[in-house]
Formats: sequence, C-alpha cells, structure tokens
Amino acid sequence: MIFTVAVDGPAAAGKGTISRAVATEFGFAHLDTGLLYRAVGVVSELRGVDPVTVARSLSPEDLARDDLRSLAAGDAASRVAVISDVRAALVDFQRSFARRSGGAVLDGRDIGTVICPQAEVKIFVTASAEARAHRRWREVGGDEAQVLAEVRARDDRDMNRAEAPLRPAADAVRLDTTDLSIAEAVARASALIRTCLPR
Ligand code: CDP
Ligand code: CDP
Repeated sequence: MIFTVAVDGPAAAGKGTISRAVATEFGFAHLDTGLLYRAVGVVSELRGVDPVTVARSLSPEDLARDDLRSLAAGDAASRVAVISDVRAALVDFQRSFARRSGGAVLDGRDIGTVICPQAEVKIFVTASAEARAHRRWREVGGDEAQVLAEVRARDDRDMNRAEAPLRPAADAVRLDTTDLSIAEAVARASALIRTCLPR
C-alpha cells in the first residue's frame, strides 16, 4: 500500500510528536525532514563547506549527529533552507521515502505543498507562538523570552522565503494544539487518518 501522511507547521507545534505516534499506531515509516536541513546547516557551518555540496552528499552519520536538536541547529537549518539548490538536492530522497510501500508519515514545512502534493492526508499543525516557545524552552532551558524571539525569527524566515515557504496546502486539515494535550492532538490526527485509509 502506498499511503502518505504530510504533516507541516511552524516550530514546536507538535509535528514530530504527532507524526511519531501515528506512524507507530498505523505501522507507517516516519521521516523528520527537518533533520535533513539541520544536518546540512550544522555540517556546512562546522566544516566550512558550501551547503549545496553538503546537501548533495548527506550521509547517515551526518543525520545521526547528537547536536542537531539545539536551537542553534534549528537556526542554521532555516538559513540553509532558503537556498533553492539545497532544497532541490533533498527532494528525491523525501519523495522516495513518501512512496515506499507500507505507508509513510513525513513532517516538515513543505511536505503537503511541494514534496507530496498528492499526499492522501495533509495536516497543518499550529499553536500560538507563546505555547510553542514554552514547549521548546522546557526542552532546551535558558531564557524563555529569548527562545520565543528565536522561534518567531525562524517562523518569519520560513514563511517569507521565496522557495517553498511555510504555508498550509489548500486541502490541509488544520490542527491547533495550543490547548490540546499530546494524547488529544494524536487522537485527532489518528481519527483523520483512519477516515482516509483505503477500505
Ligand atoms: O516537531 P515540532 O517541532 O513541531 O514539535 P515537537 O518536537 O513534536 O513538540 C515540541 C514539544 O512540545 C515537545 O516537547 C512535545 O512533547 C510538546 N508538545 C506538547 O506539549 N503538546 C502537544 N500537543 C504537542 C507537543
Ligand atoms: O522541530 P522544528 O519544527 O523546530 O524544526 P525542524 O522541523 O527540525 O526544521 C528546522 C528548519 O528546517 C525549519 O525552521 C525550516 O527552515 C527547515 N525545514 C524546511 O525548510 N523544510 C522542511 N521540510 C523541514 C524543515
């Protein structure tokens, strides 16, 4: 069975948490596409190599680095994510993953709009900037006001770039998680997927 679930939205909206949970529930494979951009950003900065070259030769070791979850890595990711040749270098891998047999969930910014416009299910996960910053702050610590400023700056860059800007696909279902527990958010996504599964 080929079945793609596209999950997009701004930073710390709950995309990864929801995607991992529904992938486990339905037995689908899951790809966190943000990790690709984080690896390109971090590795190109560290080695002083052009991000396009890094994106064209991304290795499993690059994706397994333990420093990809930091705020700095998220910022580096969003800076290389505006480069169209970086995005182009990552398209084939994401599309093949999406069409693998057995079902796939991909989460990112442009899955429903650019990578998989034919996805069987599209979910746009949102939450207020304050709620998202609070969640990220609980993970990384530091100054919460600073985390909020960084989350806002990254959303702004992602929404206003020329190539594949962050926006909901016309046929995406919106899921606002501001006042939802993780269990409630997952239950809504799961109910939606169930209605779209082939009989
Ligand atoms: O993938 P994305 O950046 O959109 O978000 P995430 O990593 O799934 O979630 C960010 C944080 O918010 C995690 O610590 C989740 O446990 C938490 N979260 C939450 O508190 N309530 C939700 N409804 C969803 C996620
Ligand atoms: O987990 P969080 O939502 O904070 O970030 P992420 O999903 O790991 O993405 C990090 C950055 O990579 C984003 O801010 C985007 O600039 C970029 N990205 C993208 O442009 N397209 C994607 N499909 C996924 C991530």
